[in-house]
Amino acid sequence: MVHLLTIIGARPQIIKAAAFSRVVREQFAGRIEEHILHTGQHYDANMSEVFFRELGVPAPDYNLHVGSASHGVQTARMIEGIEAVLMQTRYDGVLVYGDTNSTLAAAVAASKLQIPIFHVEAGLRSYNMSMPEEINRIVCDRLSSLLFAPTATAVRNLEKEGMTRGVVQSGDVMYDNALYYETAALKDKFVLATVHRPANTDNEVHLRSIIRALQDIAKTGMEVVVPLHPRTKKRIEDLRLNTDDLRIIEPASFLEMLALEKNASVVLTDSGGVQKEAFFYGTPCVILRPETEWVEIIDAGAGILADADYERIIAAYRMLENKRMAFPHLFGDGHASEKIAEEILRFLE
Ligand code: UD1
Repeated sequence: MVHLLTIIGARPQIIKAAAFSRVVREQFAGRIEEHILHTGQHYDANMSEVFFRELGVPAPDYNLHVGSASHGVQTARMIEGIEAVLMQTRYDGVLVYGDTNSTLAAAVAASKLQIPIFHVEAGLRSYNMSMPEEINRIVCDRLSSLLFAPTATAVRNLEKEGMTRGVVQSGDVMYDNALYYETAALKDKFVLATVHRPANTDNEVHLRSIIRALQDIAKTGMEVVVPLHPRTKKRIEDLRLNTDDLRIIEPASFLEMLALEKNASVVLTDSGGVQKEAFFYGTPCVILRPETEWVEIIDAGAGILADADYERIIAAYRMLENKRMAFPHLFGDGHASEKIAEEILRFLE
C-alpha cells in the first residue's frame, strides 16, 4: 500500500483534488491510501467548505488554519505546519496541485525531507515573474519527481527548462471534472465575469477599467453576473466603484460555477481555471490579463487577451459575442486522474 499526502489550500485545489480522490476511492482503494492536508489558505465557507461538500472530497485529516497574511508569513506558517506533519507520519509521496502559496510550501517542506513530490498541473508558464503563481510553479516543478503536464505546451515548457525526467502528459484533471459533472444546458442571454488576480484588484486603474467595461456591457441590456472573490469585494467597497448595473453574487459553488460557465454567452475572467472550463463547454472568453498560461485557447480563437484595458475588453467582447468557433480537444480524454495514479504507483511500488 502506497501512502500519499495530498496538500491543498486554495479553492481551485480542492476542485482539482476531487477528481483524483474520486478515482483513488473507486479504482485504487487497495493500492493507494490518501490523506489530505488543508493549509487553511482559504477559510471562508464559500471559498473552501462548500467544495468539499459538493464534490464529495473527504474531510481533511489535517488543517493548519494558516489564514491570510503577507506571502512570506503565510508561506512560512505553512512550511512549518507541513514539516511537522511529515516528520510525524511517514508518507511515501506528497501530491500537490497548481501554483498557489500552498503548493510552494508543500514543495519546500517535502523536498527538504526527501519525500518525492508529484505535481499536478506542471509545466504551466505565463513568463510573467510579477505573478506570485509563476514563482510558485517554477520552484515546485524544479523540486518534483513526477511532473503531470496537462497539455503538449506544458511538456514543451518543461523541456525548455531542461526538465524531461518524470514528465508525463496526463491530460487535465479539470477536464475529468468538467465531463463528470456535466449537465445539459442552453446558452442564455447573460455574460459571466470574475476578477481576483492581484494585478487587477490591487491596481486601482485596472480595477476601474474592468468595472467600467462590465458596467457598459450591462448597459447594452446584457445581464452581467459577477460572483465576487472576497478580496475584490473589499477593493470595490474601498474605492466606492459604481456597480449598479452588475448582478453581483457571492462566490459560487463548483456546480453553480459550471452551470454559469456553460450557459453564459461570453465569459470575462482573469482566472486560469474559469478560462479553461469555459473552453471545455464551448463558451468564448475575454481574458482580463496581459498573457495566459493556456495559450491553446488563444490559438484556437476561442479566447482573446484584453488585459485590464477598457477599449480592448469592449472590442474583444463584441468580437466573441457573435462568433462561431471551434473548441478542439486539447486537454486529454477525461481520464487524467487514472493516468496520474498509475504513474505514481509505477514510481513508488
Ligand atoms: C489564491 C492563489 C491564486 C488562485 C486563487 C483562487 C496564491 C499566491 N494565489 O489567490 O493563484 O487563483 O487563490 O481563489 O496562492 N480571503 C478571504 N477569505 C478567504 C480567502 C481569502 O476573505 O477564505 C481574502 C483575504 O483578504 C486575503 C485575500 O482574499 O488576504 C487573498 O487571499 P490569498 O489566499 O492570499 O490569495 P488569493 O487571491 O485567494
